[in-house]
Amino acid sequence: MTTALRQTIFSGIQPSGTVHLGNDLGAIRNYVRLQESHDAIYCIVDFHALTSTHDAGLLRSRTREMAASLLALGLDPDRCTLFVQSHRPEHTELAWLLATVTPVSWLERTPTYKEKKQNQPDDINHGLLTYPVLQAADIVIYKATQVPVGRDQAAHLELSREIVRAFNNRYGDTFPEPEAVYTDAPVVLGTDGVKKMSKSVGNTIDIFGSPELVRKQVMSMVTDTQRILRTDPGRPEVCNVCQLQRFFGDDYEDLWDGERTARTGCVDMKRLLADRIVAHYAPARERYDDLMAHPGRIDDILAAGAERLRPRAAATMDDVRERMGLR
Ligand code: TRP
Repeated sequence: MTTALRQTIFSGIQPSGTVHLGNDLGAIRNYVRLQESHDAIYCIVDFHALTSTHDAGLLRSRTREMAASLLALGLDPDRCTLFVQSHRPEHTELAWLLATVTPVSWLERTPTYKEKKQNQPDDINHGLLTYPVLQAADIVIYKATQVPVGRDQAAHLELSREIVRAFNNRYGDTFPEPEAVYTDAPVVLGTDGVKKMSKSVGNTIDIFGSPELVRKQVMSMVTDTQRILRTDPGRPEVCNVCQLQRFFGDDYEDLWDGERTARTGCVDMKRLLADRIVAHYAPARERYDDLMAHPGRIDDILAAGAERLRPRAAATMDDVRERMGLR
């Protein structure tokens, strides 16, 4: 693999446990694609997760499940670097150094910080405030220039760029300004057809669950709420089941036509979608189960990923310490 000429991309993903359909369509498919063309570094951000998850056993199992999910869905340790944030402790050292160029006011006005203050009012820990500084450190420690993320990360990425500018201003040109690369995938709605698919909302389609579970979840999906009678024409544009068909086969135009002309009904459409999701993810589900049955393999891959990054992190830290007068 010739990584030297490839652009470095970095993305971080929260260890939320087993992934759902929205995670795959919204982010992971893109990660898999980018490993072919880029020097791709993917990080499971357990340090960040500590700002909200305080159960050690839970964090440990979710980290491993996330790793197994990513590997099962196609991240290939020979084509990208997958690792766990806390396995490269230089991230936190750099975060401290970047914190000293970051005005508190920038952090206080971060939208996610304001949201978290509302969502967990009894646990407004300092990590929540400083979260974007650590995120900036994640990215720039490897001098990544592009960051594939969802639109919800726009404010964080802007902050990363501002922090880089502040650092470069004070200490000289050190880091490139990272650029966000937004995934084209539209926001994947959950089974309720209203909110973004998310574990905390409880509207997920669990691609690594049993076929029975996937079927049950798909059959529970809310479709076009104005289509009352089976003979009413359907409106694929507003039907979440129809929208998801786009990702599973190239015949969705035909399927949509069937809906518009009431040739087919919502139940037909759901059965087909469930079949396709189950079939599409069957090989990944097998790989997932196999990895989870051999956790040592997962741990070895993650350890090797962190080890591979050691010299890169060390080189950046040497440079930064020198520039800041730490020797
Ligand atoms: N904040 C990101 C999220 O919640 C995760 C993350 C941490 C990240 N560090 C990153 C994303 C670096 C991109 C780059 O999804």
